[in-house]
Amino acid sequence: MWYLFALFTVFGHWAISIWAVNRLHSTALPYRFMKAIDKVWYAYLFLLPIGVVLWLVRRPDHPLLTWERIGPYAQVYGAVCSVGAVYTFFVWWRYLADLSTTDRLLSTEQRIIDVENELGHKPTGTVFSTLLASIPTNQVFQIDVTTKVLAIADLPAELDGTTFTHISDLHYTGRMSREFHERVVSLVNELNSDFVVITGDIIDKRKCFSWLTEVLGKIEKQRGALFVLGNHDLRIRDEIGIRDALTRSNITDLGGRWECIDVNGWPILFAGNELPWFPRATNMGECPQEINGKPPFRCLLSHSPDQIGWARHNKFELMFAGHTHGGQIRFPGIGPVFSPSRYGVKYASGTFYETPTLMHVSRGLSGCRLLRFNCRPEMTQIVLRRDS
Ligand SMILES: [Fe+2]
Repeated sequence: MWYLFALFTVFGHWAISIWAVNRLHSTALPYRFMKAIDKVWYAYLFLLPIGVVLWLVRRPDHPLLTWERIGPYAQVYGAVCSVGAVYTFFVWWRYLADLSTTDRLLSTEQRIIDVENELGHKPTGTVFSTLLASIPTNQVFQIDVTTKVLAIADLPAELDGTTFTHISDLHYTGRMSREFHERVVSLVNELNSDFVVITGDIIDKRKCFSWLTEVLGKIEKQRGALFVLGNHDLRIRDEIGIRDALTRSNITDLGGRWECIDVNGWPILFAGNELPWFPRATNMGECPQEINGKPPFRCLLSHSPDQIGWARHNKFELMFAGHTHGGQIRFPGIGPVFSPSRYGVKYASGTFYETPTLMHVSRGLSGCRLLRFNCRPEMTQIVLRRDS
C-alpha cells in the first residue's frame, strides 16, 4: 500500500507540474519571466523527486519508510498528488478515446520527405543542434507531407475542391539551417495549393531576418498566401519589420485584419487572431455579411488553438492553428505530454470539429529545440469537399 501511495505521489507530482506549465505557456506572460519559471519548473519536476529519494536513501536510521514517519506535510502533499494522478488518468483516458477526432476528415494521404537523406548531411546550423539531431529515432528532418480531405457542411459548390497548404512554427533560429527551410518552401510549391496559410512562430533570431524575403518570398502564390504571427515572433522585438518583410514577399498580413478573396465567384473571408500575444483579433463587426448576395465562407488563421471558442462565436467554418507542435515528443501508449495550451494536450495536433468550426492544428515544421520523437514535422494540404 505504501509503495502504491509513493507511486501515485510521484505520478501526480509530474502530472500537476506539467498541467501548470502547459497552461502558463498558453498565456502572454513576458518571455524572461517564462524562462525563469521554466528553470524553477525543471527543478520542481525532476530535482525534487530525485532529491527526496537521495535524502531517504541516506537516512541511516530507517531506510524503510512508513506512513507515520514521512510527516504531515509529506502526507498532505502525497494525498494532493494522488488525487491529481487519478484525475489525470481519467482526463488522459478521455483524450485517448477522442483521438479519432472527427468524421469530417474523409481521407488522408501521407508521404515522408527525409531532408537529411536528400541532402546527405544534417541541415543544422550549430554544434548543439547537430548533437540533438543525432539522437537515435529523432525525426526532426522527416517532414510529413499529408493531404487531408475535409467535409464541410453546406460548402458552396464553387468552393468544392479548394486547397490550402498549412505550414506553421517555422522557427527561423539558425539551429535548423537555411537549406532545410528552402526545402520546406519547395515542397509548398510542389503542392501548388490555391492558398498557403502560415500560422505564426516564423522567426526567433535577428540573424535569420533576410530569410523572410529570400526564403519565404519564394512561395509561389496561386490565389494567395496569408499569415499571422505567434509568440516567438515577439523575440526579435521588431513586429513591424517582420510584417513589412512578409508583406513585401506578397504574403498577406492577417494580424487583426480581414481579406476577402474570390474563388470561382464565391468569396472567402480570411481573418486573423493573434491573441493573447498581440492585441489583434479581427473586428468581425466590420466584415461584410454578404458580397453580391453571397455570404462569405469564413476562414480563420490563429497561432493558438485556444482561440477556437472565438472562432465558434464568430461562426468560422474553417480554422488553422499551430503553436502546440504536437507535443514534439509523443510517448508510446501515452501520446503528447507537453502542449502549451489552456486545454493541455486536447488540441496538440489534428483535426477537430466543434460546431460550426472545423479546426486543423499543425504540428509545425521546427522548434527551438530540435527534438521530435514520434512526432514528425508537418506540412498539410487541406482539400475542401461539400458535405451532402
Ligand atoms: Fe512554435
